[in-house]
Amino acid sequence: MRVLSGIQSNGRLHLGNYLGAMSQHIELQEANECFFFIANYHALTTIQDAAVLRGYAHDVALDYLALGLDPQKATLFRQSDVPEVTELTWILATVTGKGLLERATSYKDKVAKNLAASMGLFSYPLLMAADILIYRSDVVPVGKDQVQHVEMTQDMAGYFNSTYGCEVFKRPEVKLNEARVVPGVDGQKMSKSYGNTIELFGSPEALRKRIMSIKTDSTPVEAPKNPDACNVFTLYELMATPDEVAALRERYVAGGMGYGDAKGALTEVAERLLGPARQRREKLAADPDYVEDVLRSGAKCARKIAGEVMHDVREACGITVAKGIGR
Ligand code: ADP
Ligand code: TRP
Repeated sequence: MRVLSGIQSNGRLHLGNYLGAMSQHIELQEANECFFFIANYHALTTIQDAAVLRGYAHDVALDYLALGLDPQKATLFRQSDVPEVTELTWILATVTGKGLLERATSYKDKVAKNLAASMGLFSYPLLMAADILIYRSDVVPVGKDQVQHVEMTQDMAGYFNSTYGCEVFKRPEVKLNEARVVPGVDGQKMSKSYGNTIELFGSPEALRKRIMSIKTDSTPVEAPKNPDACNVFTLYELMATPDEVAALRERYVAGGMGYGDAKGALTEVAERLLGPARQRREKLAADPDYVEDVLRSGAKCARKIAGEVMHDVREACGITVAKGIGR
């Protein structure tokens, strides 16, 4: 089974990215043909500073590798190293109705949060569909917020195939992560765009401070508390063992425990998860050539497939490319 997913390089990665996406990606590398990429073209919808964008793209590569992506098992590459994907985006735009994109809830949410309503942001699902279809992906593991985009991709594959009476594109399926939407420190969905994240790779002290800043209600220490209405507990459930979760639940319900204690427990499980990865990341950061080599060989492998699929796409829709110009 060919699995593909991407992460935007639009900020430092956070627990939502890891629990909602990357942990699942890394698991899948054991039994599938996996392609994971750094969506730096997508990131241009929010980051318009060259040095910052370059830095974030490198950081995402380090993060993936530190968290356990094994380049012997999975292909890791930068989106922009396969420029054919932007060509496909245009071609998909010509068979896709504007109404489909107007229904995208993620676009509406982002505009409501004051992101610039550029054509790039509006066309985001077209580029994402191109990412998925250009590798003839079977399965796309994503968090809940991205499901609609994969459904739109299924539609676009169908529009192209039926417009040109062909079967160039395969219908990709969503693989939804079990994890619920991961809340940020303010209780909304954790997102780089909302400034409410818990970063994966800050210092241990920064991790502790950020966890201490999670918003809780004002129930007094002595009173029983509802774990299911608490952001601290929700995050704990996503990282602790079932026994640990059951024990903390009891302490909430019994009363006599302040939120500070719950935050302390959360800090411990987060550090247990991230501490070893932080050490691996420091080693990788000292070897940028190795990281570039991984991305280069990933891109070669991805580009070969993209080239073959684009050949079929151009054939189907009648786009002629002069021989010998390197496509
Ligand atoms: P952000 O919202 O911070 O910009 P992205 O949109 O780049 O994050 O998300 C990358 C991946 O991480 C996606 O597959 C997305 O579903 C997942 N993800 C991001 N934030 C969360 C979250 N809070 N809960 C669950 N999954 C998330
Ligand atoms: N839009 C995805 C996100 O914000 C990132 C992404 C870009 C992606 N292209 C993709 C995910 C293709 C899966 C497949 O999380």
